[in-house]
Amino acid sequence: MSTIRLGDVAPNFTAQTSQGELVFHDWLGESWGILFSHPADYTPVCTTELGTVAKYKPEFDKRNVKVAALSVDGLESHKGWISDINETQNTTVNFPIIADENREVSALYDMIHPNSDANATVRSVFVIAPDKTVKLIITYPASTGRNFDELLRVIDSLQLTAYHKVATPANWKNGDDCVVVPAIATSDIPKHFPKGYTEVKPYLRLTPQPNLD
Ligand code: BEZ
Repeated sequence: MSTIRLGDVAPNFTAQTSQGELVFHDWLGESWGILFSHPADYTPVCTTELGTVAKYKPEFDKRNVKVAALSVDGLESHKGWISDINETQNTTVNFPIIADENREVSALYDMIHPNSDANATVRSVFVIAPDKTVKLIITYPASTGRNFDELLRVIDSLQLTAYHKVATPANWKNGDDCVVVPAIATSDIPKHFPKGYTEVKPYLRLTPQPNLD
């Protein structure tokens, strides 16, 4: 078991998936990535989650994000369950589901929390940047399905920071004003932010959201 922290390089691994063998870093390539675990195949909350992720594929593609799911169930189980997800969620699962039967990936990413359940992964989420560093870690309990709109919101925020030098304030949503990062001196703001800015305090400078595309 290892502890992964923000800024660490996401551990590389080779795994069997519903779409064939995957070498994680090679598969990510230049993309952003989401690696997320779920407790088990053929469970109700997970079924809705994976169906939702399949439906959100155009949103992930737009943001250059690849998604991989994981559970400790095997490939045959994944295959049968994918049919159920497609049928019940009215979609087509279009991303790999890792079959982590030997728990190697779960251990690398600390996805099994024994005091919660010794035999199943919790609902971990890792967002990984193109340089392979971990940008976001969230852990949900088995009984709470994730909010994938929130995940898209965080990815938008991360990409605004990476590409446009802005942070996002509390409850920010796409289109709201952003915060100029503290590393930019107020005198330099005009050259970086042609849409203008408002200085609320010397340390709190707002600017209209830069374009994400
Ligand atoms: C589920 O995925 O539906 C689930 C898993 C464990 C506990 C509760 C719900």
